Amino acid sequence: MGTRGGVMPSFKTNAAEFSDDEVAEVVEYILRLRDQPHDAAIALRGKENFEWCVACHGQDARGNSSVGGSNLLAPRLQYGSARAALFESIAQGRAGVCPSWVEQIDAADIDNLARYLARIGEAVLQLPTLDKK
Ligand code: HEC
Repeated sequence: MGTRGGVMPSFKTNAAEFSDDEVAEVVEYILRLRDQPHDAAIALRGKENFEWCVACHGQDARGNSSVGGSNLLAPRLQYGSARAALFESIAQGRAGVCPSWVEQIDAADIDNLARYLARIGEAVLQLPTLDKK
């Protein structure tokens, strides 16, 4: 799938500034592409705004793995393909489930982090218990 680390922008707050209606129209267009029940007239209106999506998801909506844009026609979508789920993906955006973090932390960092957490744990145990007044 190659979606690791990719970020799906929020289309209500990015440069596109979609209104709720515009998000709903694009949702309908995706439903149409996915052959799910949809309103054809609304889907048609969403087609134009789908231009915002093609750089990452491709003109055919099948994804662009180089930027992590997922295949929107996959039988099972990561965040769900119901109308409400699609709406949320587009309106709020989605951050990768497994962000590139993991590649940036090496074993030594993980070791240090573990030691640090252990020290905090000890310190907490050594705190005097509060006297009940
Ligand atoms: C900058 C690149 C980019 C643009 C532009 C973009 N997306 Fe995405 N989109 C992504 C990435 C990356 C993911 C996967 C996020 C993840 O895995 O958490 C994603 C995920 C999604 C999902 C969820 C897919 C799933 O499997 O649940 C939907 C729906 C979606 N995008 C729709 C759109 C629509 C519609 C547009 C245009 C309005 C759009 N995207 C524009 C990068 C983009």
